[in-house]
Amino acid sequence: MKIAIILGTRPEIIKMAPVIDEIRKRGMEFVLIHTGQHYDHEMSDQFFIDLELPAPHHNIGVGSGSHGAMTAEMLRGVEEVLLREEPDIVMVQGDTNAVLAGALAAVKLHIPVGHVEAGLRSFDRTMPEEINRMVADVCSKLYYVPTEESAINLLMEGVDPEMILVTGNTVVDACLRNIEIASRKSDILSEFSEDDRIVALTLHRAENVDNPERLRSIIDAILELEEFRIVFPVHPRTRKNLERFGLYSMLQDAAHVTLMKPMGYLDFLLLLSNSFMVLTDSGGLQEEAITFNVPCLTLRYNTERPETVEAGGNILVGADREMITGTARRLLEDPDFRRRMMEAENPYGDGHASERIIEETLRLHREGKLGMEA
Ligand code: UD1
Ligand code: UDP
Repeated sequence: MKIAIILGTRPEIIKMAPVIDEIRKRGMEFVLIHTGQHYDHEMSDQFFIDLELPAPHHNIGVGSGSHGAMTAEMLRGVEEVLLREEPDIVMVQGDTNAVLAGALAAVKLHIPVGHVEAGLRSFDRTMPEEINRMVADVCSKLYYVPTEESAINLLMEGVDPEMILVTGNTVVDACLRNIEIASRKSDILSEFSEDDRIVALTLHRAENVDNPERLRSIIDAILELEEFRIVFPVHPRTRKNLERFGLYSMLQDAAHVTLMKPMGYLDFLLLLSNSFMVLTDSGGLQEEAITFNVPCLTLRYNTERPETVEAGGNILVGADREMITGTARRLLEDPDFRRRMMEAENPYGDGHASERIIEETLRLHREGKLGMEA
């Protein structure tokens, strides 16, 4: 069985790494296709190094652009590669434009699509990611869902229950496998003192960083939270907008804020696991925070990861300055509140999602259930 893996951005590289490891461990045939949506060293190559991944067999090199232009370029490029490589299945992950283009190109060629992290829904169609997830799920044959809740979303949309596989999220596989390596290899913590209450901050969601009022409100909250040591590896999209809206220099001038380039995975994992709390609008970070028992304040008004909120480890604080500062300070002043957040149970599984993904795929292949007509 030949598996094609399509990825294009930082989180897809991280979350597909355990699946690629599993495929290689079993000596299976595979082809790795990078769309090139993320291309800066610290947004792409660094993760291949940190996670010891093989170089992609193909890089379509789409770079940045509008959604339409990028997706069109990817569709064309992926189709060409798939026609040449003739895989038995195409695997995509998550909700980026690579998922949209990869799933669509494959299904049109009658190649079955397996969607890793299928079934997530924010029910907010203004988010580009929501559209990508929904289209990918329409095109998919196999659904590797992280939780029962995502399985229910798909059942409500009429997906065949036999094709929904509750595997857990591969993000947990990546966290558990790499945290020990990170504590050996990374010296990121040497930059901080025991007394620092480290806050890992990440921000890149279009609805936050492309909107000057919302971005300003979040940055005001950050500037106000002087009792914390806020570490902010800045996503390229965010850096551009902070500079455009005149906010970057305000952060540079704040003694309690450390601005950095996007960090490598091992450094970031170690920093995150040693943080007092996480402030983020990232999808993956909501999952990683609960995996490491770190309270998460999510800078959004909805989430496609409601399990983290229901478990008690994540609070949606939106882009509201007072909500952000008030909740952060409550964590500082109310130890019981913080303890309850830290004790939230991880809904994303036991770190063996990638094994299940490959096992179940092989089983369904053996049973002849992956054909388009099956
Ligand atoms: C993309 C995904 C988002 C995911 C995020 C992970 C889509 C629609 N969005 O958002 O779901 O959460 O990746 O980080 O697929 N840029 C660089 N260098 C790079 C990459 C981007 O400078 O290596 C800059 C460019 O100015 C670009 C902007 O960042 O226009 C946005 O990049 P893009 O890939 O369009 O979306 P992300 O915000 O990264
Ligand atoms: N991450 C990283 N370095 C950073 C910021 C994030 O390695 O400076 C990792 C983080 O551990 C997580 C992933 O990047 O696994 C999340 O990516 P991102 O927030 O860009 O995308 P999303 O998950 O929102 O799609």
